[in-house]
Amino acid sequence: MKTAQTKICLIIGDPVGHSLSPLMHNSAYKAVGLEEKFVYLASSVPVSKMKSVIDAVRTLGIVGLTCTVPHKIAVIPFLDEIDPVAKKIGAVNSVVNTNGVLKGFNTDWVGAIIPLKKRIQLANKKVLVIGAGGAARAVVYGLVKEKASVTIVNRTVEKAKQLAREFTCAHRDTIDADFILTQDVVINTTSVGMHPHADESPISPDGIRKGQILMDIVYAPYETEFLRQGKKRGATIIHGTEMLLFQGTAQFELYTGVPAPVEVMEKTLLQGIL
Ligand code: ATR
Repeated sequence: MKTAQTKICLIIGDPVGHSLSPLMHNSAYKAVGLEEKFVYLASSVPVSKMKSVIDAVRTLGIVGLTCTVPHKIAVIPFLDEIDPVAKKIGAVNSVVNTNGVLKGFNTDWVGAIIPLKKRIQLANKKVLVIGAGGAARAVVYGLVKEKASVTIVNRTVEKAKQLAREFTCAHRDTIDADFILTQDVVINTTSVGMHPHADESPISPDGIRKGQILMDIVYAPYETEFLRQGKKRGATIIHGTEMLLFQGTAQFELYTGVPAPVEVMEKTLLQGIL
């Protein structure tokens, strides 16, 4: 039951109708007995309205503001404080309102690193990151923090070069199967393979071998062509839903201060997707 004491968390995006965050967070509130204390809603707003959104957050006392595409960068100038990690990544996906002080955080990098660390010790492992956009920035930050040996490749070569320079890692203009075979982990941070282009993969299947770990950030479809090829060749695969789950559990903890019920959130997420 919601009461006059119930606090509001809100996700904004454009569009946001497909977001699974409200489902995931509301089921988590229920699971840990916070159903009366919190509610998690969604609003689709154009990025040009960011100032009005932030005014509303302050005026209405919204306690947690989640920013998804394309708001993660646009929100930054309106905040009172930015966590140093979010600053380094250059994107904010979670804003915490503490008595009117708005502080921005990034939990996307945790979302990528937790699933990897469950399967491999990342230090000195060769990791190929495909893509150099916002998601790649969070992933590369986490990998470098874990002391992985990172190589970035991107359709627009200059962006890969710049990201590699910024995070002190390697880049390649192009990749062939022989190079990909040398990598312990391959991560797709691009939208290649996303519905409605579900038959596309960012790499040739000849670069995939048994023992490799393949991770995708695309979660629609649940199993992308990239992961399907990986499974076929005996690689360990990590679905895009895992990054979504763990950025969400970290965010739940930021907003509520309570440990996240991971299994419940995972179950809700998978029910929403499958
Ligand atoms: P996000 O915040 O989700 O990472 P983004 O910042 O727009 O989104 O980055 C999208 C990434 O996917 C980029 O690396 C982009 O490559 P470019 O830098 O060349 O644009 C990559 N990408 C998107 N569509 C692609 C495609 N069809 N083939 C290869 N790369 C693609």
